[in-house]
Amino acid sequence: MSFIKKKIVIVGQGYVGLPLAISCAQVGFEVTGIDLNEEKVSQLNKHQSIIEDVTDEELKTVSVSGKYRATTDSLIDPSAEIICICVPTPLGSDHQPDLEILKAATKDVGKKLKPDMLVIIESTIQPGTTRDVVVPILEKESGLSSDQFLVAYSPERIDPMNKKFTIKNTPKLVAGLTPDAAVKAKEFYSKFIDQVDVCDSLEVAETAKLLENSFRLVNISFINELAMFCQKIGIDVNDVIKAASTKPYGFMPFYPSVGVGGHCIPVDPLYLAQAARAVGAPTRFIELADEINLAMPTYFVGRASEMLGGLKDKKVLVIGVSYKPNVADVRETPVEALINGLKKSGAVVSWHDDLVKSWNGQASVALGSSFDLAILATPHDYLDLSLMGSVPVLNTRGSK
Ligand SMILES: NC(=O)c1ccc[n+]([C@@H]2O[C@H](COP(=O)([O-])OP(=O)(O)OC[C@H]3O[C@@H](n4cnc5c(N)ncnc54)[C@H](O)[C@@H]3O)[C@@H](O)[C@H]2O)c1
Repeated sequence: MSFIKKKIVIVGQGYVGLPLAISCAQVGFEVTGIDLNEEKVSQLNKHQSIIEDVTDEELKTVSVSGKYRATTDSLIDPSAEIICICVPTPLGSDHQPDLEILKAATKDVGKKLKPDMLVIIESTIQPGTTRDVVVPILEKESGLSSDQFLVAYSPERIDPMNKKFTIKNTPKLVAGLTPDAAVKAKEFYSKFIDQVDVCDSLEVAETAKLLENSFRLVNISFINELAMFCQKIGIDVNDVIKAASTKPYGFMPFYPSVGVGGHCIPVDPLYLAQAARAVGAPTRFIELADEINLAMPTYFVGRASEMLGGLKDKKVLVIGVSYKPNVADVRETPVEALINGLKKSGAVVSWHDDLVKSWNGQASVALGSSFDLAILATPHDYLDLSLMGSVPVLNTRGSK
């Protein structure tokens, strides 16, 4: 017999919350998507998607059928059964975890919490945060004790614009504060996800998410170090990776870049590093990987300067400014540091990105041959570099 009937509330309608809301609505749940951002909510209610992974058509279908609506009103329907929290967990100005947004969203939820509701945290957090931060806030705000409601943690694994692995076919981890919470969370996700794996504890699920993204940061930073070495000895790191990839076991390719960006990979590992330092078991690989990652834009400023014999008054076009190819997301993009570094060295910098179009008060300029140098930072599929004519191109995705 199914525990779950109908109503789901999803707090935060961004890269994680919106696809989750649409997936739930598509299998028949009645979904309310709450977001503080009025403009976003108004767009969503006009069936205009705000992210690449959800189409306007999909949004329209679930909205017209009455299965989805977006609102800025944090008033949670008392008959809602499940509330998922998908708000940002960024780094603060000190480059350290900042849980204030999550705490504020949890407070709002706590005020409306009713007995037997299930609250699921999807935001990426440190081990212990669900148990030691979220649950006490829910208890305080609701006046209920934790045995009167259910709490689970389920990290999101969404990879924007990944056509092969979607919400449906990417296995989902869940863990409950209690066995009942885990069972109910698993039942919920199983309605629209093929494989749901239950972890032994909240802390295992929380740490697993941090491991996944730390693994990427450490390996990407390692490949970026290797790329710097390959450049010095005059070989292309991509040829090396291709050769090593013929080994059918024990090797996984990672590729060079101007650094990692986005909301997850440069951020989540620092959640793990801080938690590790706090218990006296520092994760030195993460700290070093973060340092290398942050230094990559400066490295490419140096390469550009070498190519042109100095950057003063040189016209440089940076191509692709989002944090990864084929998306318009500029959060934590390393290209910002690249552009700032070039400007600091006296270059006259323009950028081109038809997906981003407008950013930091500047507009994308057309590709063309009137530059001293182009730096290929984020290689979107649509780019036609033949439009650069004879302008030299520094490719941050290789080492030659
Ligand atoms: N983007 C990804 O690919 C990805 C993948 C896996 C996990 N995550 C994690 O998921 C979480 C959410 O990330 P995201 O990329 O969806 O962020 P996002 O910025 O795209 O969306 C979050 C939304 O939450 C809204 N919000 C903030 N406070 C709110 C509140 N109190 N009430 C209602 N809405 C509120 C914001 O306005 C925003 O629209 C983060 O912890 C992130 O680390 C992200």
